[in-house]
Amino acid sequence: MKKLTVRDVDVRGKRVLVRVDFNVPVDTAGMITDDTRIEAAMPTIRYLAGSGAKVVLVSHRGRPKGKVNEKDRLNPVAVRLGEFLGRQVPKLADCIGPEVEAVVNRMQPGDIVLLENVRFHPEEEKNDPVFAQKLAGLADLFVNDAFGAAHRSHASTVGVAAYIPAVAGLLLAQEITVMGQALTRPAKPFFAVLGGAKVADKIGVIENLISKTDSLLIGGGMANTFLFAQGKEVGKSLCEKDKADQARIVLKKAREAGVELLLPVDVVVATEPKVGATAKVVPVDAIPEDQMALDIGPESSRLFAEALAKARTVIWNGPMGAFELPPFDQGTLAIAQAVAAVNGVSIVGGGDSMVAVKKAGLTAKITHVSTGGGASLKFLEGCELPGVAVLQDKVLKGLK
Ligand code: 3PG
Repeated sequence: MKKLTVRDVDVRGKRVLVRVDFNVPVDTAGMITDDTRIEAAMPTIRYLAGSGAKVVLVSHRGRPKGKVNEKDRLNPVAVRLGEFLGRQVPKLADCIGPEVEAVVNRMQPGDIVLLENVRFHPEEEKNDPVFAQKLAGLADLFVNDAFGAAHRSHASTVGVAAYIPAVAGLLLAQEITVMGQALTRPAKPFFAVLGGAKVADKIGVIENLISKTDSLLIGGGMANTFLFAQGKEVGKSLCEKDKADQARIVLKKAREAGVELLLPVDVVVATEPKVGATAKVVPVDAIPEDQMALDIGPESSRLFAEALAKARTVIWNGPMGAFELPPFDQGTLAIAQAVAAVNGVSIVGGGDSMVAVKKAGLTAKITHVSTGGGASLKFLEGCELPGVAVLQDKVLKGLK
Protein backbone atom coordinates (compact mmCIF):
# COMPACT_ATOMS: atom_id res chain seq x y z
CA MET A 1 0.00 0.00 0.00
CA LYS A 2 1.37 3.40 -0.91
CA LYS A 3 -0.03 5.16 2.15
CA LEU A 4 1.79 5.66 5.44
CA THR A 5 0.39 3.63 8.32
CA VAL A 6 0.56 3.97 12.09
CA ARG A 7 3.69 1.80 11.97
CA ASP A 8 5.55 4.39 9.86
CA VAL A 9 5.25 7.28 12.32
CA ASP A 10 6.31 8.01 15.88
CA VAL A 11 3.17 8.09 18.00
CA ARG A 12 4.74 8.06 21.47
CA GLY A 13 3.18 10.70 23.72
CA LYS A 14 1.11 12.06 20.81
CA ARG A 15 -2.62 12.70 20.90
CA VAL A 16 -3.98 10.54 18.09
CA LEU A 17 -7.48 10.96 16.69
CA VAL A 18 -8.51 7.56 15.33
CA ARG A 19 -11.53 7.38 13.00
CA VAL A 20 -13.06 3.95 13.49
CA ASP A 21 -16.24 2.46 12.04
CA PHE A 22 -18.22 1.42 15.11
CA ASN A 23 -21.47 1.42 13.15
CA VAL A 24 -22.59 -1.83 14.77
CA PRO A 25 -26.14 -3.17 15.13
CA VAL A 26 -27.67 -2.74 18.59
CA ASP A 27 -30.97 -4.41 19.60
CA THR A 28 -33.85 -2.78 21.49
CA ALA A 29 -32.35 -3.91 24.80
CA GLY A 30 -29.16 -1.97 23.95
CA MET A 31 -27.09 -5.10 23.23
CA ILE A 32 -24.64 -5.17 20.33
CA THR A 33 -25.70 -8.04 18.07
CA ASP A 34 -22.56 -8.11 15.90
CA ASP A 35 -19.26 -6.74 17.19
CA THR A 36 -17.14 -7.64 14.14
CA ARG A 37 -16.26 -4.02 13.42
CA ILE A 38 -15.17 -3.33 17.02
CA GLU A 39 -12.99 -6.44 17.08
CA ALA A 40 -11.52 -5.51 13.68
CA ALA A 41 -10.37 -2.13 15.04
CA MET A 42 -8.60 -3.67 18.05
CA PRO A 43 -5.17 -4.20 16.41
CA THR A 44 -4.82 -0.46 15.69
CA ILE A 45 -6.13 0.58 19.10
CA ARG A 46 -3.87 -1.89 20.92
CA TYR A 47 -0.88 -0.92 18.79
CA LEU A 48 -1.34 2.81 19.45
CA ALA A 49 -2.02 2.49 23.17
CA GLY A 50 0.86 0.02 23.51
CA SER A 51 3.15 2.49 21.72
CA GLY A 52 2.37 5.25 24.21
CA ALA A 53 -0.13 7.25 22.16
CA LYS A 54 -3.10 9.02 23.73
CA VAL A 55 -5.90 7.39 21.75
CA VAL A 56 -9.01 9.44 20.98
CA LEU A 57 -11.57 7.29 19.12
CA VAL A 58 -14.20 8.89 16.89
CA SER A 59 -17.00 7.11 15.04
CA HIS A 60 -20.48 7.43 13.64
CA ARG A 61 -23.33 5.03 14.35
CA GLY A 62 -26.58 4.97 12.43
CA ARG A 63 -27.88 7.92 10.46
CA PRO A 64 -29.09 10.39 13.13
CA LYS A 65 -29.09 13.23 10.56
CA GLY A 66 -27.20 15.79 12.61
CA LYS A 67 -29.32 15.49 15.77
CA VAL A 68 -28.80 13.74 19.09
CA ASN A 69 -30.65 10.45 18.91
CA GLU A 70 -30.55 8.39 22.11
CA LYS A 71 -30.62 5.07 20.29
CA ASP A 72 -27.48 5.94 18.32
CA ARG A 73 -25.30 6.78 21.32
CA LEU A 74 -21.99 4.95 21.55
CA ASN A 75 -22.35 3.81 25.19
CA PRO A 76 -22.77 0.09 24.35
CA VAL A 77 -19.69 0.34 22.12
CA ALA A 78 -17.61 1.75 25.01
CA VAL A 79 -18.69 -1.19 27.18
CA ARG A 80 -17.76 -3.74 24.51
CA LEU A 81 -14.43 -1.98 23.91
CA GLY A 82 -13.73 -2.19 27.64
CA GLU A 83 -14.41 -5.93 27.52
CA PHE A 84 -11.97 -6.41 24.64
CA LEU A 85 -9.28 -4.34 26.38
CA GLY A 86 -9.86 -5.57 29.93
CA ARG A 87 -10.19 -1.99 31.20
CA GLN A 88 -12.85 0.70 31.16
CA VAL A 89 -12.96 3.04 28.17
CA PRO A 90 -14.50 6.43 29.07
CA LYS A 91 -17.22 7.54 26.63
CA LEU A 92 -17.38 11.34 26.46
CA ALA A 93 -20.66 13.26 26.23
CA ASP A 94 -19.78 14.90 22.89
CA CYS A 95 -17.07 14.83 20.23
CA ILE A 96 -16.02 18.50 20.33
CA GLY A 97 -16.15 21.37 22.83
CA PRO A 98 -14.33 22.58 25.96
CA GLU A 99 -15.26 19.57 28.12
CA VAL A 100 -13.93 17.13 25.54
CA GLU A 101 -10.77 19.22 25.18
CA ALA A 102 -10.25 19.25 28.95
CA VAL A 103 -10.47 15.44 29.14
CA VAL A 104 -8.15 14.95 26.17
CA ASN A 105 -5.61 17.40 27.62
CA ARG A 106 -5.46 15.34 30.83
CA MET A 107 -4.84 12.05 28.98
CA GLN A 108 -1.66 10.10 29.66
CA PRO A 109 0.28 7.94 27.15
CA GLY A 110 -1.62 4.66 26.66
CA ASP A 111 -5.01 6.16 27.66
CA ILE A 112 -8.03 5.53 25.41
CA VAL A 113 -11.25 7.55 25.24
CA LEU A 114 -14.26 7.27 22.94
CA LEU A 115 -15.99 10.42 21.69
CA GLU A 116 -19.78 10.52 21.23
CA ASN A 117 -21.36 9.79 17.82
CA VAL A 118 -19.87 12.34 15.42
CA ARG A 119 -23.06 12.35 13.30
CA PHE A 120 -24.95 14.07 16.12
CA HIS A 121 -23.48 17.23 14.54
CA PRO A 122 -24.89 18.24 11.13
CA GLU A 123 -21.45 19.61 10.19
CA GLU A 124 -19.99 16.10 10.06
CA GLU A 125 -21.73 14.92 6.89
CA LYS A 126 -21.32 18.37 5.31
CA ASN A 127 -17.55 18.08 5.83
CA ASP A 128 -17.71 21.52 7.44
CA PRO A 129 -14.15 22.92 7.73
CA VAL A 130 -14.73 24.68 11.07
CA PHE A 131 -16.07 21.47 12.60
CA ALA A 132 -13.23 19.44 11.06
CA GLN A 133 -10.71 21.88 12.52
CA LYS A 134 -12.28 21.51 15.97
CA LEU A 135 -11.98 17.71 15.74
CA ALA A 136 -8.42 17.99 14.47
CA GLY A 137 -7.62 20.36 17.35
CA LEU A 138 -7.98 17.41 19.71
CA ALA A 139 -4.95 15.66 18.24
CA ASP A 140 -1.44 15.81 16.78
CA LEU A 141 -2.05 12.97 14.32
CA PHE A 142 -5.08 11.58 12.47
CA VAL A 143 -5.41 7.86 11.85
CA ASN A 144 -8.14 6.61 9.55
CA ASP A 145 -9.03 3.01 10.39
CA ALA A 146 -12.68 3.27 9.31
CA PHE A 147 -12.56 1.40 6.04
CA GLY A 148 -16.36 1.02 6.19
CA ALA A 149 -16.78 4.81 6.08
CA ALA A 150 -13.85 5.62 3.77
CA HIS A 151 -16.21 6.17 0.83
CA ARG A 152 -17.77 9.13 2.69
CA SER A 153 -16.33 12.64 2.38
CA HIS A 154 -17.16 13.72 5.88
CA ALA A 155 -15.37 15.93 8.42
CA SER A 156 -14.09 12.97 10.46
CA THR A 157 -13.01 10.90 7.44
CA VAL A 158 -11.62 13.59 5.13
CA GLY A 159 -11.87 17.13 6.58
CA VAL A 160 -9.54 16.61 9.58
CA ALA A 161 -6.67 15.63 7.27
CA ALA A 162 -6.39 19.26 6.16
CA TYR A 163 -5.21 20.27 9.63
CA ILE A 164 -3.03 17.45 11.02
CA PRO A 165 -0.88 14.69 9.46
CA ALA A 166 -3.02 11.72 8.42
CA VAL A 167 -2.04 8.04 8.13
CA ALA A 168 -3.81 4.70 7.76
CA GLY A 169 -4.78 2.37 10.58
CA LEU A 170 -3.93 -1.32 10.39
CA LEU A 171 -7.46 -2.47 9.46
CA LEU A 172 -7.82 0.07 6.67
CA ALA A 173 -4.33 -0.84 5.40
CA GLN A 174 -5.21 -4.55 5.41
CA GLU A 175 -8.50 -3.98 3.55
CA ILE A 176 -6.83 -1.89 0.85
CA THR A 177 -3.87 -4.23 0.51
CA VAL A 178 -5.80 -7.51 0.25
CA MET A 179 -8.56 -6.21 -2.04
CA GLY A 180 -6.12 -4.07 -4.01
CA GLN A 181 -3.88 -7.07 -4.69
CA ALA A 182 -6.86 -9.12 -5.86
CA LEU A 183 -7.79 -6.37 -8.30
CA THR A 184 -4.31 -5.69 -9.61
CA ARG A 185 -2.31 -8.92 -9.27
CA PRO A 186 -4.76 -11.76 -8.66
CA ALA A 187 -3.65 -15.39 -8.66
CA LYS A 188 -5.47 -16.81 -11.71
CA PRO A 189 -8.06 -17.96 -12.45
CA PHE A 190 -9.83 -15.03 -10.81
CA PHE A 191 -13.58 -15.40 -10.25
CA ALA A 192 -16.14 -12.96 -8.90
CA VAL A 193 -19.52 -13.92 -7.47
CA LEU A 194 -22.01 -11.08 -7.40
CA GLY A 195 -25.46 -11.15 -5.90
CA GLY A 196 -27.91 -8.87 -4.15
CA ALA A 197 -31.14 -7.30 -5.19
CA LYS A 198 -30.27 -4.75 -7.83
CA VAL A 199 -28.17 -4.52 -10.97
CA ALA A 200 -28.17 -0.74 -10.44
CA ASP A 201 -26.13 -1.14 -7.21
CA LYS A 202 -23.53 -3.40 -8.80
CA ILE A 203 -23.22 -2.22 -12.39
CA GLY A 204 -20.01 -0.27 -11.63
CA VAL A 205 -18.49 -3.33 -9.96
CA ILE A 206 -19.47 -5.62 -12.85
CA GLU A 207 -17.99 -3.24 -15.40
CA ASN A 208 -14.72 -2.94 -13.48
CA LEU A 209 -14.45 -6.69 -12.89
CA ILE A 210 -15.18 -7.73 -16.48
CA SER A 211 -11.74 -6.47 -17.49
CA LYS A 212 -10.02 -8.29 -14.63
CA THR A 213 -11.74 -11.63 -13.95
CA ASP A 214 -11.82 -14.90 -15.84
CA SER A 215 -15.36 -15.68 -14.79
CA LEU A 216 -18.32 -13.77 -13.34
CA LEU A 217 -21.06 -15.66 -11.47
CA ILE A 218 -24.27 -13.70 -11.02
CA GLY A 219 -27.08 -14.68 -8.66
CA GLY A 220 -29.62 -13.03 -6.36
CA GLY A 221 -32.34 -10.65 -7.44
CA MET A 222 -30.04 -8.99 -9.98
CA ALA A 223 -29.78 -12.25 -11.93
CA ASN A 224 -33.49 -11.86 -12.80
CA THR A 225 -32.72 -8.70 -14.75
CA PHE A 226 -30.10 -10.60 -16.77
CA LEU A 227 -32.53 -13.50 -17.36
CA PHE A 228 -35.18 -11.00 -18.48
CA ALA A 229 -32.60 -9.35 -20.77
CA GLN A 230 -32.10 -12.77 -22.36
CA GLY A 231 -35.81 -12.91 -23.11
CA LYS A 232 -36.95 -15.10 -20.20
CA GLU A 233 -40.21 -14.52 -18.32
CA VAL A 234 -39.48 -13.87 -14.64
CA GLY A 235 -43.05 -13.83 -13.25
CA LYS A 236 -43.40 -11.65 -10.13
CA SER A 237 -39.65 -11.73 -9.44
CA LEU A 238 -37.74 -8.61 -8.54
CA CYS A 239 -36.53 -7.34 -11.92
CA GLU A 240 -35.30 -3.95 -13.12
CA LYS A 241 -36.78 -4.03 -16.60
CA ASP A 242 -35.38 -0.56 -17.29
CA LYS A 243 -31.89 -1.96 -16.76
CA ALA A 244 -32.30 -4.75 -19.35
CA ASP A 245 -30.32 -2.80 -21.96
CA GLN A 246 -27.49 -2.30 -19.50
CA ALA A 247 -27.55 -6.02 -18.71
CA ARG A 248 -27.36 -6.83 -22.45
CA ILE A 249 -24.33 -4.55 -22.78
CA VAL A 250 -22.66 -6.39 -19.89
CA LEU A 251 -23.39 -9.76 -21.52
CA LYS A 252 -21.90 -8.51 -24.77
CA LYS A 253 -18.81 -7.02 -23.09
CA ALA A 254 -18.22 -10.29 -21.23
CA ARG A 255 -18.45 -12.25 -24.51
CA GLU A 256 -16.03 -9.85 -26.22
CA ALA A 257 -13.57 -10.00 -23.31
CA GLY A 258 -13.72 -13.80 -23.26
CA VAL A 259 -15.06 -13.71 -19.68
CA GLU A 260 -17.40 -16.55 -18.81
CA LEU A 261 -20.60 -15.09 -17.29
CA LEU A 262 -22.60 -17.69 -15.40
CA LEU A 263 -26.25 -17.12 -14.55
CA PRO A 264 -28.54 -19.43 -12.56
CA VAL A 265 -30.08 -22.33 -14.48
CA ASP A 266 -32.74 -23.00 -11.86
CA VAL A 267 -34.37 -20.94 -9.10
CA VAL A 268 -36.43 -21.47 -5.95
CA VAL A 269 -39.82 -19.80 -6.38
CA ALA A 270 -42.75 -18.95 -4.09
CA THR A 271 -45.70 -16.60 -4.19
CA GLU A 272 -44.20 -14.33 -1.52
CA PRO A 273 -40.94 -13.75 0.36
CA LYS A 274 -41.91 -15.20 3.74
CA VAL A 275 -40.19 -17.49 6.25
CA GLY A 276 -41.36 -21.05 5.65
CA ALA A 277 -43.25 -20.16 2.44
CA THR A 278 -44.15 -23.10 0.20
CA ALA A 279 -41.31 -23.17 -2.28
CA LYS A 280 -40.44 -25.17 -5.37
CA VAL A 281 -37.51 -25.44 -7.73
CA VAL A 282 -38.05 -24.59 -11.41
CA PRO A 283 -35.75 -24.09 -14.41
CA VAL A 284 -35.14 -20.41 -15.20
CA ASP A 285 -37.21 -20.65 -18.39
CA ALA A 286 -40.24 -21.93 -16.48
CA ILE A 287 -40.81 -19.35 -13.73
CA PRO A 288 -44.60 -19.34 -13.18
CA GLU A 289 -46.36 -16.05 -13.86
CA ASP A 290 -47.68 -15.74 -10.28
CA GLN A 291 -44.41 -16.68 -8.53
CA MET A 292 -41.12 -14.99 -7.72
CA ALA A 293 -37.57 -16.28 -7.75
CA LEU A 294 -36.21 -16.00 -4.21
CA ASP A 295 -33.03 -18.07 -4.38
CA ILE A 296 -30.82 -19.85 -6.88
CA GLY A 297 -31.74 -23.51 -7.23
CA PRO A 298 -29.66 -26.58 -6.27
CA GLU A 299 -28.41 -27.19 -9.82
CA SER A 300 -27.17 -23.57 -10.01
CA SER A 301 -25.48 -23.95 -6.60
CA ARG A 302 -23.79 -27.10 -7.86
CA LEU A 303 -22.63 -25.44 -11.10
CA PHE A 304 -21.37 -22.33 -9.28
CA ALA A 305 -19.50 -24.46 -6.69
CA GLU A 306 -17.98 -26.57 -9.48
CA ALA A 307 -16.77 -23.41 -11.22
CA LEU A 308 -15.37 -21.91 -7.99
CA ALA A 309 -13.37 -25.08 -7.31
CA LYS A 310 -11.12 -24.01 -10.21
CA ALA A 311 -10.49 -20.50 -8.87
CA ARG A 312 -7.28 -19.30 -7.19
CA THR A 313 -8.79 -15.90 -6.32
CA VAL A 314 -12.46 -15.26 -5.55
CA ILE A 315 -14.29 -12.09 -4.60
CA TRP A 316 -17.86 -12.51 -3.41
CA ASN A 317 -20.30 -9.66 -2.85
CA GLY A 318 -24.05 -10.04 -2.34
CA PRO A 319 -26.39 -12.90 -1.40
CA MET A 320 -27.88 -15.35 -3.90
CA GLY A 321 -31.44 -14.79 -2.67
CA ALA A 322 -33.61 -13.78 0.28
CA PHE A 323 -31.16 -15.58 2.59
CA GLU A 324 -32.60 -14.07 5.76
CA LEU A 325 -35.85 -15.97 5.07
CA PRO A 326 -35.41 -19.79 5.16
CA PRO A 327 -35.89 -21.83 3.00
CA PHE A 328 -34.45 -19.19 0.64
CA ASP A 329 -31.04 -19.29 2.36
CA GLN A 330 -29.70 -22.47 0.79
CA GLY A 331 -28.13 -20.97 -2.35
CA THR A 332 -26.29 -18.30 -0.36
CA LEU A 333 -25.05 -20.88 2.17
CA ALA A 334 -23.87 -23.13 -0.67
CA ILE A 335 -21.88 -20.23 -2.14
CA ALA A 336 -20.44 -19.41 1.30
CA GLN A 337 -19.21 -23.01 1.50
CA ALA A 338 -17.81 -22.98 -2.03
CA VAL A 339 -16.00 -19.66 -1.41
CA ALA A 340 -14.60 -20.95 1.89
CA ALA A 341 -13.33 -24.07 0.12
CA VAL A 342 -11.42 -22.10 -2.56
CA ASN A 343 -7.84 -23.23 -2.91
CA GLY A 344 -6.37 -19.72 -2.90
CA VAL A 345 -7.44 -16.22 -1.90
CA SER A 346 -11.07 -15.73 -0.90
CA ILE A 347 -12.47 -12.27 -0.24
CA VAL A 348 -15.98 -11.53 0.96
CA GLY A 349 -17.37 -8.01 0.62
CA GLY A 350 -19.09 -6.70 3.74
CA GLY A 351 -22.79 -6.38 4.46
CA ASP A 352 -25.08 -9.33 3.70
CA SER A 353 -22.40 -11.70 2.38
CA MET A 354 -20.44 -11.19 5.60
CA VAL A 355 -23.57 -12.05 7.61
CA ALA A 356 -24.08 -15.19 5.48
CA VAL A 357 -20.49 -16.33 6.02
CA LYS A 358 -20.91 -15.81 9.76
CA LYS A 359 -24.21 -17.67 9.78
CA ALA A 360 -22.52 -20.59 8.05
CA GLY A 361 -19.70 -20.50 10.66
CA LEU A 362 -17.13 -20.08 7.89
CA THR A 363 -15.51 -16.72 8.68
CA ALA A 364 -12.21 -18.31 9.77
CA LYS A 365 -11.93 -20.13 6.45
CA ILE A 366 -12.10 -16.96 4.34
CA THR A 367 -8.86 -15.10 3.58
CA HIS A 368 -10.43 -11.68 4.12
CA VAL A 369 -13.93 -10.65 5.18
CA SER A 370 -14.28 -6.94 4.56
CA THR A 371 -15.80 -4.68 7.23
CA GLY A 372 -17.06 -2.36 4.50
CA GLY A 373 -20.41 -2.61 2.76
CA GLY A 374 -20.75 0.46 0.52
CA ALA A 375 -17.01 1.11 0.85
CA SER A 376 -16.00 -2.31 -0.47
CA LEU A 377 -18.39 -1.91 -3.41
CA LYS A 378 -16.85 1.46 -4.26
CA PHE A 379 -13.39 -0.07 -3.96
CA LEU A 380 -14.33 -2.97 -6.25
CA GLU A 381 -15.68 -0.41 -8.74
CA GLY A 382 -12.11 0.84 -8.94
CA CYS A 383 -12.85 4.19 -7.25
CA GLU A 384 -10.34 5.88 -5.01
CA LEU A 385 -12.00 6.24 -1.62
CA PRO A 386 -11.87 9.84 -0.31
CA GLY A 387 -10.96 8.69 3.21
CA VAL A 388 -7.93 6.93 1.75
CA ALA A 389 -6.99 9.62 -0.77
CA VAL A 390 -6.35 12.16 2.01
CA LEU A 391 -3.80 9.96 3.79
CA GLN A 392 -0.10 10.68 3.35
CA ASP A 393 1.75 8.78 0.67
CA LYS A 394 4.80 6.75 1.66
CA VAL A 395 7.05 8.87 -0.54
CA LEU A 396 6.06 11.92 1.49
CA LYS A 397 7.35 10.31 4.68
CA GLY A 398 8.71 13.14 6.71
CA LEU A 399 6.76 12.99 9.92
CA LYS A 400 8.63 13.24 13.19
C1 3PG B 1 -21.63 1.10 6.77
O1 3PG B 1 -22.38 0.58 7.62
O2 3PG B 1 -21.55 0.65 5.60
C2 3PG B 1 -20.71 2.21 7.19
O3 3PG B 1 -20.64 2.35 8.57
C3 3PG B 1 -21.12 3.51 6.54
O4 3PG B 1 -22.38 3.88 7.00
P1 3PG B 1 -23.29 4.91 6.15
O5 3PG B 1 -23.74 4.17 4.93
O6 3PG B 1 -24.40 5.31 7.06
O7 3PG B 1 -22.40 6.07 5.78
